[in-house]
Amino acid sequence: MSPPLHERLMELAISRGFLLPSAEIYQAPGGFYDYGPAGAAIKRHIQERWRQLFITEPGFLEIESCTVLPQPVLVASGHVEHFADPVCECTKCKQRFRADHLLEQKTMQSWAGKQPVELNEGLLANQIKCPACKGDLGVVGWANLMFPTSIGAGGDNPAYLRPETAQGIFLDFKRLFVQQGSKLPLAVGQIGRSYRNEVSPRQGLIRQREFTQMELEYFFNPAQDKMDGFEKIKGETVRILPPADGDTPLAEQDIRLADALQQGYFPNEILAYMIHLEDRLYASLGIPKNKYRFRVMPRDELPHYSKGNVDLEVQTSYGWIETSGIAYRTDFDLSQHAKHSKKDMNVTVVAESAAASEPGKPAPAPPTTRLVPHVVEPSMGVDRTFWCVLESAYRPAGEGKEWEWFAFPPAVAPYVAGVFPLMRKDGLEEIAQELLTALRAAGLEVYYASSGSIGKRYARADEIGVPYGITIDYETKEKANEPGGPTVTVRFRDDGAQERVKISEVPVLLAKWAKAGKVRKG
Ligand code: ATP
Ligand code: GLY
Repeated sequence: MSPPLHERLMELAISRGFLLPSAEIYQAPGGFYDYGPAGAAIKRHIQERWRQLFITEPGFLEIESCTVLPQPVLVASGHVEHFADPVCECTKCKQRFRADHLLEQKTMQSWAGKQPVELNEGLLANQIKCPACKGDLGVVGWANLMFPTSIGAGGDNPAYLRPETAQGIFLDFKRLFVQQGSKLPLAVGQIGRSYRNEVSPRQGLIRQREFTQMELEYFFNPAQDKMDGFEKIKGETVRILPPADGDTPLAEQDIRLADALQQGYFPNEILAYMIHLEDRLYASLGIPKNKYRFRVMPRDELPHYSKGNVDLEVQTSYGWIETSGIAYRTDFDLSQHAKHSKKDMNVTVVAESAAASEPGKPAPAPPTTRLVPHVVEPSMGVDRTFWCVLESAYRPAGEGKEWEWFAFPPAVAPYVAGVFPLMRKDGLEEIAQELLTALRAAGLEVYYASSGSIGKRYARADEIGVPYGITIDYETKEKANEPGGPTVTVRFRDDGAQERVKISEVPVLLAKWAKAGKVRKG
């Protein structure tokens, strides 16, 4: 039997420079990965796509907040008290495990959100033993997931590495609101590292202790929860997994956003719109639409502050994994920070029913209202998304080529092209270097390879999913003085077919083809 896809893919990811196990020479604890050159480029491209859709196009704000937070911030947010996982320890080998995960593996059902008492009963009823040594498991308790630290030399100023990027945005909200003209809605996002001391990091990038999130906090007046632009997209269809009806699980269904909203699956248009944005993002990353769904969280799983959560789940070789959670967080975070910091988080905004002015009279000052804004938050993990991109683009040997390769969309691929002089002599390298400089000056991410046979260099390019290979050959040199200038060969990754184009046109053509997603000649 061949090993599961994720095992093979992790081997390839490491050998081809996408990923590197962090601090490997010291046998570091699990849950930490570095990104190699090809991986870092893909990760950056995923982040750029998110930024384009969630910040640039809608005109939202992006910030970068600190990753070390003083303890009171996380007391206020509830993380110190509640951000914990149910854990049990083996009485024999002392290893610790997530009790809900052990039960999920055994029963193939979700145990998310269950209390230690229920988990204890479940472990006993299913006769679950320590997966490492088969010893008896102790009782289930809570383990907080945050990494503690302290600020300053004395060590008496406790702090934590942030477990989510969101809190920085809540802390900065009041100043940003004023700077931006004291208006709602106001949407602020950020991309950055988060830290969770996961009990059993596993499944490679899926459960790490340091990872990157892309989060947006959309602040709005709860009396005005319409979303600009929703009318235009409300007819779009997404796949949702509705919550179970009592004990009866319901099937996935493809449903128009407007209908899902009307049936109460989403709490408001804003959350529905964020689903539309995530759907667009995943389409542009090459994740097939039939591989993901939006799971509407059942009421009994909702966090106490939430009025609705929808998880984006992707079907992978690890099974279904959550790559994003969209939550209607109400005014919970801002109100908590107001209570704990004793700073007023109310804002003054124009009330919904502003009176119309009478003809000939000066317009009356519009009525205002004071409120703590509500928030809808799409929170997406970059690393889990990266893994889904990798799985979606993977092509085993025999599927179009004799080697394993990656069919990334050009916008995601680590490089847009490789530049290859056919030989390292006869002046071909000089022409290739000149082209390389021109392409880089045009803002294109390209790499250079001059050793090995040209066939091997094409294969290496396929192995990291580079969409175009440009070869400078003897014809380029011999016909350098022809009208229109010399030409080069462009090889397209997916069909391996080639086209001869003018060297002067390469930068424009590559940019055009990459934008259009053209990856084959035909
Ligand atoms: P899970 O239940 O799988 O632990 P979660 O519900 O705790 O996930 P959230 O708190 O909603 O996840 O975090 C938002 C996003 O951050 C997740 O959808 C995921 O993509 C990412 N994320 C969370 N924890 C991790 C982790 N340990 N490693 C990698 N990514 C993570
Ligand atoms: N900000 C959502 C989360 O990380 O849990």
